Amino acid sequence: MNDLLGKHIVLGLSGGIACYKAAELCRALIKEGATVQVVMTAAAEQFITPVTMQALSNRPVYGSHNASGFDAREANGMPHINLSREADAILVAPCSADFMVKLVHGGADDLLSLMCLARPVDKVPLLLAPAMNREMWAHPATQRNMAQLSADGATILGVGSGFQACGETGDGRMLEPAELLQDVVAFFQPKLLAGRRVLVTAGPTFEALDPIRGITNHSSGKMGFAIARAAQEAGAQVTLVAGPVHLPTPRGVQRIDVKSAQQMLEATMREADRADVFVATAAVADWRPATHSEQKIKKDGSGQPPVLHFTENPDILHTVAQGERARAGQLFCVGFAAESHDLVNNAQAKRARKGIPLLVGNIGPLTFGQDDNEMLLVDEHGVQPLPRASKLALARQLVAEIARRQHPTTSS
Ligand code: CTP
Repeated sequence: MNDLLGKHIVLGLSGGIACYKAAELCRALIKEGATVQVVMTAAAEQFITPVTMQALSNRPVYGSHNASGFDAREANGMPHINLSREADAILVAPCSADFMVKLVHGGADDLLSLMCLARPVDKVPLLLAPAMNREMWAHPATQRNMAQLSADGATILGVGSGFQACGETGDGRMLEPAELLQDVVAFFQPKLLAGRRVLVTAGPTFEALDPIRGITNHSSGKMGFAIARAAQEAGAQVTLVAGPVHLPTPRGVQRIDVKSAQQMLEATMREADRADVFVATAAVADWRPATHSEQKIKKDGSGQPPVLHFTENPDILHTVAQGERARAGQLFCVGFAAESHDLVNNAQAKRARKGIPLLVGNIGPLTFGQDDNEMLLVDEHGVQPLPRASKLALARQLVAEIARRQHPTTSS
């Protein structure tokens, strides 16, 4: 994807061992389409060389030789002004405890802090990726500084937890480059669902026959996870009820893992009470074994296969759509239809049967496990095709369609 195409990021490095991750981050931002200008403090240069950052960003680095903030190479001699005016965002990663202090006090004795102070606050966002020892992170002074920086308009991207370079274990590690990239991409997405609560079901369900075997399907969960991510990027608070899949949880999304349709129904009903939007992408097994054997079903030597009986599973989407909140228009329900043929007719019939305002049709065998898809939006006005694209791109389009249907005048 080129999610950062046309974006110019000033990547600031302050002193900390996490500087080694900044190299990877720089590369990741560029691979996503951004141009990156690196600015380093003298302390950062103790951890990683400007040569490395220049090679990765393909631009000369502003480093300790610009420490005073003056630069004879620039016509006006004022890199702090030039750099901060052309940036779409300034990202300080790593942001040390000491650099936070400087930002809090509006200090400006090196180019990076000078540039942060000189940036037009309402036009150039400042994103901070803190990195420090767990005691430094937990210290009231650091927490106080962070609260002040947030109040001053900076976006704090949070920290990771785990083994630290000092040998201790806890909170304060800089987030991984892939996580920071997701956060930066999300930052630039329009906040079409700001303040909304979105509930998504995803993946297959697993209906156990015995402790060893069960019935499931080929759903990978990718579309549902992409929708959860897109909704989170759009500013929503997202809960993802996931069947058994091997996918990482999108950043900032609350995930509830379930196995069977019955468990998915229970988790969904608990969450649906406070959701504004429900998107059912899960490929719920229509049937489950009528009985579950506590022990493995063994061959009995007769050569005859066991006779299995099935019971119909609850229809989660239909149950939610028939609930009081959905019928009162407080919960907007979106369904998916995985068909093998005659998509338009099947999808239209399914929308009516499920009693929902919007249904997304796709051809199941062509999408399961794939990273891209093509879809058909079906609503009361008719059908609208969404041409082949990555699942994340389609998810963002769907989020925009949902937002538009909820606030017809305010969103695109
Ligand atoms: N769905 C659900 N609970 C079920 C079955 C389906 O919530 N027990 C939801 C799916 O998440 C999807 C929509 O209903 O959003 C349609 O699912 P699909 O499997 O295509 O349709 P079915 O209702 O199973 O209908 P059919 O088997 O006739 O195609």
